[in-house]
Amino acid sequence: MDGFTLKHVYEAQQFDKELLDIVFQTADEMKADLASGDRRFSQSLQNSIMASLFYEPSTRTRFSFESAMTRLGGKIITTENAREFSSAAKGESLYDSTRIMNGYADVIVMRHHEAGSAKKAADVSNIPVINAGDGAGQHPTQALLDMYTILDCLGKIDGLNIAMVGDLKYGRTVRSLAYLLAKYTDVKIHFISPPVCRMDDDIKEYLERNRVAWQEEESVDAILPKVDCVYMTRVQKERFNDPSDYENAAGRFILTPEKVSVMKAGAIIMHPLPRVDEIPPEVDDDPRARYFEQAQNGLYIRMALLYLLLG
Ligand code: CP
Repeated sequence: MDGFTLKHVYEAQQFDKELLDIVFQTADEMKADLASGDRRFSQSLQNSIMASLFYEPSTRTRFSFESAMTRLGGKIITTENAREFSSAAKGESLYDSTRIMNGYADVIVMRHHEAGSAKKAADVSNIPVINAGDGAGQHPTQALLDMYTILDCLGKIDGLNIAMVGDLKYGRTVRSLAYLLAKYTDVKIHFISPPVCRMDDDIKEYLERNRVAWQEEESVDAILPKVDCVYMTRVQKERFNDPSDYENAAGRFILTPEKVSVMKAGAIIMHPLPRVDEIPPEVDDDPRARYFEQAQNGLYIRMALLYLLLG
């Protein structure tokens, strides 16, 4: 589509409102096409190959990207757990792996355990690199599907009151989401986390530079009746160096049905998933629970991105 100027997707700051609108409109087209059964896009990428290079586990991101590529008629090359079964296990550098994939594929979708790795790969790649999550850094395609879900459910972003709850230090989804929310006006963000999982200063400073109001809160109870969206996150056990820090942080914020009952009728509950105990399954049938819809939107957003980058 005219106006989509990105070659790679490695961080949320690459998107301005114009680019966001293009991605969301294209995702709308993909969603409508699948719903109608027309399959207008089913051969769009029939000559393209996607290398799916995941050095960390994934359910949603990997399978939705692979489903997206398949639904667009493209092909996939992949490995189970690239950290163990690619030549990374023999000491191959990310630089070499990226250069090699340039000869085999037309796009690389990469999840890596180190923050900044997607940008490093993009810097040496002649084919598009998409960041599918880089350590505690960013998860820009998750933020795109999160924004798409909020727009779909609430009809707007401007003026919203949003609570981010849980692990805001190691949670890359909330970091990317904060960057995108800053593109809109009058958004207010409440950060609610255990002390060891507070949002880092780089995001707070970015929000201040972009005149986004944010507040750090100790308790979720006082905030729940006020917000339009509560975005729950898992405490990321795998990223803690000190197990006692994890023990102190885990299980502190659980969105029970009783807590949900004080939320506004029109508010929404989101979670990038996977969840551990932050949202009990009893909440799933509440009309405000939108996290499964959110995960489904990942398919449309990733179809849109692949189409825009390669189509
Ligand atoms: N939300 C998300 O990134 O999920 P996965 O880790 O399953 O890909």
